[in-house]
Amino acid sequence: MRIVSTIHEIEYERSQWSGPVGLVPTMGYLHEGHLSLFQTARSENATVVASIFVNPTQFGPNEDLERYPRNLERDLHMLEAAGVDMVFTPTASEMYPPGFTTYVEPQGSLVEQGEGASRPNHFRGVATVVLKLFQLIQPQRAYFGQKDAQQVAVITRMVRDLNLPVTLRIRPTVREADGLAMSSRNSYLDPATRAASPILYQALQAGRQAFEAQPTSNPAAVMQAMAEVVAQELQAHLDYAEVRDAETFLPLERLQASALLLLAVRLGSVRLIDNFALHAD
Ligand code: PAJ
Repeated sequence: MRIVSTIHEIEYERSQWSGPVGLVPTMGYLHEGHLSLFQTARSENATVVASIFVNPTQFGPNEDLERYPRNLERDLHMLEAAGVDMVFTPTASEMYPPGFTTYVEPQGSLVEQGEGASRPNHFRGVATVVLKLFQLIQPQRAYFGQKDAQQVAVITRMVRDLNLPVTLRIRPTVREADGLAMSSRNSYLDPATRAASPILYQALQAGRQAFEAQPTSNPAAVMQAMAEVVAQELQAHLDYAEVRDAETFLPLERLQASALLLLAVRLGSVRLIDNFALHAD
């Protein structure tokens, strides 16, 4: 496994590969959710590239950029074991040198709701860094997790709007045994908030049950079912419980199979997100 951290090196390496290249962009502190992406990428490509970059442009001024968990040595062991060929670990100044001023700016309903509303400029930072990684690594396929459903929708739209020659592969959310979606940020949870954290999954299940009980009902009933479950957990503060179209993130008048149940909850100082896609069957 080769490890490179400069743009010059990654461009040289890229010129040496033939056959399909699969890219898995990450911010490191890897867990089983990330590994599921590497596993799929390994089975579908001649060359598998991981990027590890805690991207400053997707963090707000009062967010957790400084304390975001990092453990490069452990990550590299995991990537080696997953059969990854190349790891790209740039510094912030390598990706954003002095004078950097050009951003990809997703607009409209997709970024006005949910995480976009709670985290201004977050998706601008995500789209910009993902486009830069696509340019540098030129993957045939890129792998993302459904855990970050709105990120998936934003990147899918960017690929379509800007005619990027890459196929996106979206993998399901990997969860702990009690339903908590795996996330690097779960390391912020102390024993008390960790014990309370399955409330997100339980709330999504309650939303799903409300949908199944009355599949044609108004989304408000489903949102209320989710919010009521979150309210039962005293440590949990609801940021949002929403039902949105999975592609546009517009509110839905009627529930339908393309609906996404979306949750953001604060447990102490930790903010967790999760989602569940409704299915017609
Ligand atoms: P990060 O949070 O490290 O996640 C990297 C990828 O792993 C994302 O596509 C994310 O959706 C996926 N992932 C995270 N938890 C998962 C889980 N429990 N199950 C399945 N997949 C999971 O998302 C980012 O980094 C950044 O925004 C990035 C795309 C790298 C741009 O900076």
